[in-house]
Amino acid sequence: MNIAPLTAPLPDSYGRLLTYLRVSVTDRCDMRCIYCMSEDMTFLPKAEILSLDELGRLCASFIRHGVRRLRVTGGEPLVRRDVMDFFREMGGWLNRPDQQAGLDELTLTTNASRLAEFADGLRACGVRRVNVSLDSLDPDRFRRITRRGNLARTLDGIRAARQAGLDIRINTVAMAGVNADEFDTLIAWCGEIGADLCLIETMPMGETGEDRTDHYLPLSDVRRDLQQRWTLEPLTYRTGGPARYARIAETGRRIGFITPMTHNFCESCNRVRLSCTGRLYTCLGHEGSTDLRAPLRAGADDVQMMDHVRAAILRKPRGHDFLIGRNADDPARVTRHMSVTGG
Ligand code: GTP
Ligand code: 5AD
Ligand code: SF4
Repeated sequence: MNIAPLTAPLPDSYGRLLTYLRVSVTDRCDMRCIYCMSEDMTFLPKAEILSLDELGRLCASFIRHGVRRLRVTGGEPLVRRDVMDFFREMGGWLNRPDQQAGLDELTLTTNASRLAEFADGLRACGVRRVNVSLDSLDPDRFRRITRRGNLARTLDGIRAARQAGLDIRINTVAMAGVNADEFDTLIAWCGEIGADLCLIETMPMGETGEDRTDHYLPLSDVRRDLQQRWTLEPLTYRTGGPARYARIAETGRRIGFITPMTHNFCESCNRVRLSCTGRLYTCLGHEGSTDLRAPLRAGADDVQMMDHVRAAILRKPRGHDFLIGRNADDPARVTRHMSVTGG
């Protein structure tokens, strides 16, 4: 059991407290989604990747300093061979006594290709909620978007997660000319299976071999259109992330909107991201990062490690400056792929 007193929390220079850590456990994925990766990706050699012990140690330091929610991402987190050991270890931080350091929530974002295998195990580790990336319910289209995914397998994973008693939010990246005609179908399907749906604006990150300017779809327009057919009742419900939710009266389920492009939410940002190589990214929309692996491997103790973390967090920018339609060599464009930090 992890028992640890809560030590000084982590504020940034704008007074935002860092309470949500996203941990990417691998840069690898069994899919190549057109908005996330290029067809030919070069993945990192094993030696670059933190071991579970190293990842666990860094996460424990963050939790001791006030992180309350931990989201495991990738790439695809469930392709890492020993990932369940990591979930087990992090699950040990749930349900700690009051006033002690600990997690309120342990979650993951997954493409569900391996969820059928792991759903029960995740539940046993204390996971209660998963976000599943799914952009189409049409098998051919799903294959085109993911370049190598198999819809039936993803749906099996979702089914297994429901049977295991996990709450599900479907993440759908909204893309003009790709899946914009499917939102009604997705809303109805989520109603049937008892899942929430979250629509996401495409963010310009990394070279993907696709023109994101063509696909960009402002969710303000989508919402207006949906309201012609569905009754959206705004909710104060929040999940700690950037989604803003409404209830769809006709299905009883929630719909979320993540709108980094049309409506910035950075002023309430509470998160930092740890990559599988031990780099700390304080903003999804900036290149800036701090290497924690070198000091970790050089034997830094927790106090020294947290000095590096604090210094990094004080450099956290006020917000992103994503702009769609810029050239690849424009400095405002983030060159790393989304799969480095898993969103
Ligand atoms: P919840 O804990 O359920 O609120 O999850 P989440 O929405 O924070 O996480 P998820 O992994 O499902 O990410 C959904 C989308 O939100 C992805 O496209 C992420 O890149 C994006 N996202 C998450 N956090 C941020 C953020 O701080 N800034 C921006 N711009 N996008 C974010
Ligand atoms: N823009 C917006 N969302 C993205 N995701 C991956 N790449 C992008 C992008 N360029 C989403 C995935 C997944 C989540 C972690 O990030 O669909 O659900
Ligand atoms: Fe893999 Fe998720 Fe990126 Fe798709 S969006 S390639 S499933 S990491």
